[in-house]
Parts: sequence; structure tokens; C-alpha cells
Amino acid sequence: MSDLRFERYYGKDLEQRLDAIARLRMTVFREWPYLYEGDEAYERRFLDIYVQSSRSFALVVLDGDRPVGVTTAMPLNDEDPEIRKPFLGAGMDPGQVFYFAESVLLPGYRGQGLYRRFFEEREAHARTFGDYDLVTFCAVQRPTDHPLRPADHQPLDPVWRHFGFEPRADLVAYFPWPDVGEAEETEKPLKFWVKSLV
Ligand SMILES: CC(C)(COP(=O)(O)OP(=O)(O)OC[C@H]1O[C@@H](n2cnc3c(N)ncnc32)[C@H](O)[C@@H]1OP(=O)(O)O)[C@@H](O)C(=O)NCCC(=O)NCCS
Repeated sequence: MSDLRFERYYGKDLEQRLDAIARLRMTVFREWPYLYEGDEAYERRFLDIYVQSSRSFALVVLDGDRPVGVTTAMPLNDEDPEIRKPFLGAGMDPGQVFYFAESVLLPGYRGQGLYRRFFEEREAHARTFGDYDLVTFCAVQRPTDHPLRPADHQPLDPVWRHFGFEPRADLVAYFPWPDVGEAEETEKPLKFWVKSLV
């Protein structure tokens, strides 16, 4: 852990690390439960949202010069409309919500306490604006009897509670991507977890 370095990017400067973020997403999100069949062209379009947001943030973890992890965040209002939709449906103001997007670490870098740093740095960034009273992230929901579910899989739910988040069964977005080995996109439910900043 002592050899790891951290870089921080804000707004349009995220452009400098989009390739690394795309690679890390495509590698880590191939795993259960995301099972994401990544595509570089799609990643480029998707990640452009991060560059267009003036308030976006990325913390990149490097081992030497090699990016081994990243976490990102941005105002919910700057995200894809599908991600905002459940908040509007629940009568909440998305303008008061800061969205924590991905947190990914290559397997060899897990279990060293970096997740706490991911949450703390993103929350500190959200707080700098003074406009937000909630932070949130979402997680894909898969059936427990899904054939690709590893027998030893430990859900992150207790970890997310440990970091102060609560699940909101009433806040569910639907987002499409192709599962590993599939060419066609299928829609997945993503349940939100929230933490109050006030
Ligand atoms: C999610 C991810 C970034 C977390 O990183 P990590 O290195 O595994 O997590 P850490 O070990 O740093 O942190 C785990 C924390 O949960 C705590 N924890 C672990 N098991 C727990 C349990 N059963 N109950 C409560 N807390 C628990 C740990 O003590 C630690 O907290 P601490 O730092 O306060 O002690 C990493 O596992 C990953 O990339 N996973 C694949 C992608 C993914 O699922 N991303 C999340 C959604 S985008």
C-alpha cells in the first residue's frame, strides 16, 4: 500500500485518464455481479459525461505508473437521465444529490482499506460545493439463483452499511448493457443506496 500513488482529476481534466478508467471498468465489471461485456467505443461515449460535468471528480490509484483502481463522482443532475429518473419519481430534487459512480480496484489491491478513502474523498468533494444534502450510488440487482453467481460471493451490503449508506428499495434505475458473452444489451435493475450529508 505504501508504494501506491493517488492522482485527483476534476471536470474536463478527467479526459487525461479516461482510457485508464475505461480499462479498469471493463476489467473489473466483467466480474459478478456486473458481468459487463465492455466495449471501448461505448466506454468513450459513456465516460464523456464525466468530462462534460464541471463538478466531476476522479481519484486514480497507481502502482508505479500503472492505474490499478479508480473511483468517480459527479452531481446527479450531470448523469444520464435514466440515473436521475427514480429520484424525480420519488419526488426528490436531484439537484441536491451527489452521485458516486464506480469504485473499482484490481483484485490484488483489495482488502487494504482503499474503499474508505474512496468514500471519504468523494464525500469531501461533494461537500465543497455546499449544495448537496445526499450522496448516493447504485448497485446491480441479480437473481440469487443466477447461473454465473460464484458460490463464495459475499454481497457488499454490510460494507455499504458500514460506510453509512442505507438501501432504498423505492429508488431503482434501469440501465442496459450486454452481459459477458452476449451481443445484445439487456436492461438491469440498479438499486440506490443513500447517505445524508446533513
Ligand atoms: C468495491 C471495492 C473497490 C472495495 O475495495 P476493497 O479493497 O475490497 O475494500 P476495503 O477492504 O478497502 O474496505 C472494506 C471495508 O468494509 C469493512 N467490512 C468488510 N466486511 C465487512 C462486513 N461483513 N461488515 C461490515 N464491514 C465490513 C472493512 O473493515 C473495510 O472498512 P474499514 O476500512 O473501515 O476497516 C473492490 O472490492 C472492488 O473493486 N470490487 C469490484 C467492483 C465493485 O463491486 N465495486 C462496487 C460498486 S461500483
